[in-house]
Amino acid sequence: MSAIKTIDTNPFAGQKPGTSGLRKKVAEFTQPHYLENFVQAIFNMLGDCRGKRLAVGGDGRYYNREAIQIIARMAAANGFGKLLIGRGGIFSTPAMSCVIRKYGTDGGIILSASHNPGGPNADFGVKFNGANGGPAPEAVTEAIYRQTLSIEQYLTLDTGDMDLDRVGRCELGGMEIEIIDPVTDYADLMASIFDFEKISQLLTNRRFHMCFDAMHAVTGPYAKAILEERLGAEPGTVINGAPDESFGGGHPDPNLVHARELVDRMNGDAPLAFGAASDGDGDRNMVLGSGFYINPCDSLAVLAANAGLVPAYHESLAGVARSMPTSRALDRVAQFLEIPCYETPVGWKFFGNLMDADKITICGEESFGTGSNHVREKDGLWAVLFWLNIIVESRKPARSIVREHWQRFGRDYFTRHDFEGLDAGRTGEMIGRLRDRVSGLVGRQAGELSIQAADDFAYTDPVDGGVSEEQGVRIFFNDGSRAVFRLSGTGTANATLRLYCDKYETDPALLGLDTQRMLAQTLQAAGEVAGIAEFTGRTAPDVIT
Ligand code: G1P
Ligand code: ZN
Repeated sequence: MSAIKTIDTNPFAGQKPGTSGLRKKVAEFTQPHYLENFVQAIFNMLGDCRGKRLAVGGDGRYYNREAIQIIARMAAANGFGKLLIGRGGIFSTPAMSCVIRKYGTDGGIILSASHNPGGPNADFGVKFNGANGGPAPEAVTEAIYRQTLSIEQYLTLDTGDMDLDRVGRCELGGMEIEIIDPVTDYADLMASIFDFEKISQLLTNRRFHMCFDAMHAVTGPYAKAILEERLGAEPGTVINGAPDESFGGGHPDPNLVHARELVDRMNGDAPLAFGAASDGDGDRNMVLGSGFYINPCDSLAVLAANAGLVPAYHESLAGVARSMPTSRALDRVAQFLEIPCYETPVGWKFFGNLMDADKITICGEESFGTGSNHVREKDGLWAVLFWLNIIVESRKPARSIVREHWQRFGRDYFTRHDFEGLDAGRTGEMIGRLRDRVSGLVGRQAGELSIQAADDFAYTDPVDGGVSEEQGVRIFFNDGSRAVFRLSGTGTANATLRLYCDKYETDPALLGLDTQRMLAQTLQAAGEVAGIAEFTGRTAPDVIT
């Protein structure tokens, strides 16, 4: 048996998990003891690790493999009983959630910085998921953070690297390691949810052409196995399908700006019928119809409204949930279905409790995240298959499905403006000032609008009673529109301000108009109230979604 080494270390400042785990530049993560401290903090939070089982894998970005070797040695030294590792060190985030649940492990460690770029000069991240397969709730991430502040030692083994590329079992310092195929369990789960036979008929129909852009990230192997191999879509349906440590030098974020190649195929003279893309770790999705962008808030509402067409959701939905800044399109569906609709802070971790308590079946966020209780993470490919299942059952193109949805429920125009790379101090001041003044804003005029209500969103978890405060400043205007301000919790450099605006419209003549034009007044009023230009020096956002 290899000797256990106890390594002395000192705490690093700033190992506080954000919206989705700990994310830092690779250079920060790879400095001596940095990753080790955080991993030991997770283990310390877990308490007695002897005999515990963990799943480990990541999105394949730069430093993924090295990190897995480090974690495996540390897990063995800490007395874990078993690690389940995806072949090649790969697990998409939803596949990790699936594996934790299917094999009943005590949790999992995901190596990913999601949609942030990868490579030696880009980002890396570590997320801890619990035994329910979901992101650790705030109480747990806080406990991990506290451990990072007082850490003095970590345990590891004096051994070389193991072979991550061969499926099978081996042993490391008395701990069992099982390398499994990262795709099979997830693909089987998808087949149990959707009508694969019908989707296959659609995908093998010569008149239906689709494209899935894996953005050189983790969903390549998943999408190829499911769409092309199991469902028979023509080879080449999946583009950018070979995972790359630097995501081909791109930004693996599925939006109109970064999924350029896909967007081009969906427009022009011979647009495809359906298009989709996923992000670095496979939990986000963007879906497109022919020459038609489907906003994630609308996508979520459409999935909920049409859930009856999908075998797994045929019966009924227990309830639905959305993050606070996500448009209220989902609420209208919930009202129609007479089921509860929960409004949670930003971040998937808040949905876990609701799903575990059977309060919700489907949930999502405006940030290209949709999912259900089949796992405890958002799930990009799941959303794509859901759409395909709806398209085949309703015999309508995606664009018509959305337009008919608007006719029936009205349309919630929605946009998000991101101001990136801002000075953290000044931006923090701006949000602080807004927060301090929030109750006094009611009745005030802002641009063409007046403010009817305003608050700083706080959430009380209906299951465990946990309270999360300061989750975003909301301003409701007299024309029914809403603006939300919050700072990103996933960035690795400077501050990112997110401004979300939405407005409800029911007039049939006003349902197909330009989003930015429809929200211009709200955006202008919001910018004025917060003093965006004054505090950030910016007159326009860097990214609009
Ligand atoms: C962003 C999104 C949020 C999502 C998270 C992880 O967090 O806004 O909805 O859950 O990424 O994918 P933010 O950077 O806004 O804190
Ligand atoms: Zn992601």
